[in-house]
Amino acid sequence: MSEHFDVYGGARLVGEVEVVGAKNSVLKLMAAALLAEGTTTISNCPRILDVPLMADVLRSVGCEVEMADDVTRITTPAELSHRADSAAMGKLRASVCVLGPLVGRLKRAVVALPGGDAIGSRPLDMHQNGLRKLGATSTIEHGCVVAEADGLHGAQIWLDFPSVGATENILMAAVLAQGTTVIDNAAREPEIIDLCTMLTEMGARIEGAGTSTLTVEGVDALHPTEHVVIGDRIVGATWAFAAAMTQGDVTVTGVDAHHLDLVLEKLRLGGADVTTFDGKGFRVVQSERPRSVDFVTLPYPGFATDLQPFAVALSSVCDGTSMITENVYEARFRFIEEMVRLGADARTDGHHAVVRGVERLSSAPVWASDIRAGAGLVLAGLCAEGVTEVWDVFHIDRGYPAFVENLNRLGARVERVTAEPDRVAAG
Ligand code: EPU
Repeated sequence: MSEHFDVYGGARLVGEVEVVGAKNSVLKLMAAALLAEGTTTISNCPRILDVPLMADVLRSVGCEVEMADDVTRITTPAELSHRADSAAMGKLRASVCVLGPLVGRLKRAVVALPGGDAIGSRPLDMHQNGLRKLGATSTIEHGCVVAEADGLHGAQIWLDFPSVGATENILMAAVLAQGTTVIDNAAREPEIIDLCTMLTEMGARIEGAGTSTLTVEGVDALHPTEHVVIGDRIVGATWAFAAAMTQGDVTVTGVDAHHLDLVLEKLRLGGADVTTFDGKGFRVVQSERPRSVDFVTLPYPGFATDLQPFAVALSSVCDGTSMITENVYEARFRFIEEMVRLGADARTDGHHAVVRGVERLSSAPVWASDIRAGAGLVLAGLCAEGVTEVWDVFHIDRGYPAFVENLNRLGARVERVTAEPDRVAAG
């Protein structure tokens, strides 16, 4: 038996929805707790599957982790294991973020290669090269990244691409290295700033958070802290797209609207009336059929690849033709095959997709291949005639707290159903 969502088409979403802490921040902040002996408290944690999975990863190296409501308490012992190779590791991509902290703290680590989404190849070469520059050896052995150092020293590191994960791992090793590390072409995502903020609260010395150059002055030890996770801009943007697609009126709180400047501008170009509330939230009102807009995914502050499925879903019901360019994950266009099942007029050529808007989509059973594709199919289902079944919803549960409840509160009709699927998996 497996779970799917029945999504009833024809809803107009209206109301207010609160966004809680960002998945792609909290998982890294939990890993950062490994850097300091004692109890670190992280609040505004989202209730999503990936948080207990990450807790299992931390327990596997010797931490105690308690989760109550939106607070996660991690107690890191003096003696940690350097082996993070339990079954939990394979279940989420962010598990690889224990690599930097373990190397920083213990000067050695054996970390199982992570799992995660089917969105394209996700090598670790930049993570490994960064650790090598800091003085560690790094190899892949028996499905694990193995890193070892006599001691870590500061270094000048240039990343080929502003990788979020590589920036985080190198940063978390460099905070305990001797001397100064400069990471150039570093990722600038708000979640990187959040991590830098927490590390600084723990006693790290970091300059340049939010810019392409991070300068880290190594310290001997860090101490535990209490930290509040920033709001999830990707979840916030999901609601913004939902409002535009359903010609609705949705107010989103708990997220900094500045993190979505480009996204909200795209929706304005499509005809939405967007108001922002001093960085604390925003309202999207779409009173007529949205007009088509082009989208190009790029690292922050570009348009996030995580939002590409929503750009495709919106374009499929717009008035006009959109070109969508994917520059980060080549396999993310797999989502389009499922959109075509729903009647979207979309085709891809390399890393470009052309989507000609249709008046109305038509329901069908569809399969989620990753978190964002899953949520994108649900939004498409809201604009489809009939009842769309979205399968493999465990992907959505990994990243969207109370998704069904929030949709229904905004006036949609979406039901979680346990049943036998008609086919085993997508494509
Ligand atoms: N890359 C390399 N070598 C590396 C690292 C990355 O070639 O050593 C390439 C990747 O193949 C990809 C690009 O660099 O083409 C960007 O990857 P990045 O390292 O920035 O991604 P990530 O850290 O693995 C995080 C998010 C993703 C999000 C990307 C891009 C987490 C847990 N995941 O992944 O989020 O798409 O950044 O913004 O933070 C999601 O939340 O649904 C999700 C997939």
